[in-house]
Amino acid sequence: MARFQSFDSFLLLCAVVYTILLPFAASDAAYPPPYGLGSTEEDLVPVRREVYGGGRIIDISHRYHPDMPSWESNDGVGQFLWLPKSMKNGSLANNSEMKLPTHTGTHVDAPGHVIDHYFDAGFDVDTLNLEVLNGPALLVDVPRDKNITAQVMKSLNIPKGVTRVLFRTLNTDRRLMYKKEFDTSYVGFMKDGAQWLVDNTDIKLVGIDYLSVAAFDDLIPSHLIFLEGRETILVEGLKLDVAQPGIYSVHCLPLRLLGAEGSPIRCILIE
Ligand SMILES: *[C@@H]1O[C@H](CO)[C@@H](O)[C@H](O)[C@H]1NC(C)=O
Ligand SMILES: *[C@@H]1O[C@H](CO)[C@@H](O)[C@H](O)[C@H]1NC(C)=O
Ligand SMILES: *[C@@H]1O[C@H](CO)[C@@H](O)[C@H](O)[C@H]1NC(C)=O
Repeated sequence: MARFQSFDSFLLLCAVVYTILLPFAASDAAYPPPYGLGSTEEDLVPVRREVYGGGRIIDISHRYHPDMPSWESNDGVGQFLWLPKSMKNGSLANNSEMKLPTHTGTHVDAPGHVIDHYFDAGFDVDTLNLEVLNGPALLVDVPRDKNITAQVMKSLNIPKGVTRVLFRTLNTDRRLMYKKEFDTSYVGFMKDGAQWLVDNTDIKLVGIDYLSVAAFDDLIPSHLIFLEGRETILVEGLKLDVAQPGIYSVHCLPLRLLGAEGSPIRCILIE
């Protein structure tokens, strides 16, 4: 879920970024200009892509940009990147800074997100198990006419032994992650769906294609069910419009943000 303002640790990352080259190029289907795919016609225009190696690697992270949706906001993320030192102004290099809520775009939730004593005990994103975040994964389409209930979970027939599942929903069809306005009608887990998953499957990595795995109506109950055991990792805001349902190897790496209950995360699928 993208958070409660008051719980959120906002985080200032001073990143040394030597090349912030915005593409002044044609858009691709996924992103409008100026975030779209770069043209290769001119040498100095970077190429931005979703797929590498002829389809072997698929990027399932969304690009961070000011117009991406932000929790309960109509205005999107807004400016999150500044260039306090620039070559144009006499610095030896360009050094940008960013300030971003940790639950922005494609991101991961740690147990401390909704359980305060886990937060106090230090169950932050640095403690998430990389073995859960990396390995064989199933990408499934869920029925488009419902939220993810126990009945839906049952109907998916996900075999025992499957530990990582990315749920592609109506959110992808509605392109919600490309809309600046936050939309509470997104599809997510209802409380009984989350409980069914925990009780009846071996799934430890739950991925979804909007800002929260939990449906808005069951926001806290579903998060609690997933996170109280401290075994399930929630990856939210995934970009699942390119990959087809099937089995992949997923690779997700959060930042090692000490004390943060959320982190931007880069996830890819490898065929
Ligand atoms: C440095 O930043 C400036 C903006 O001040 C930008 O126009 C330029 O392309 C950047 N240069 C490099 C090498 O990134
Ligand atoms: C460079 O400095 C000028 C004058 O202080 C300022 O107006 C401008 O915004 C700065 N440009 C960048 C890219 O930092
Ligand atoms: C899912 O639940 C939300 C409320 O959390 C609701 O607005 C939406 O219509 C539901 N979606 C479907 C497909 O039933």
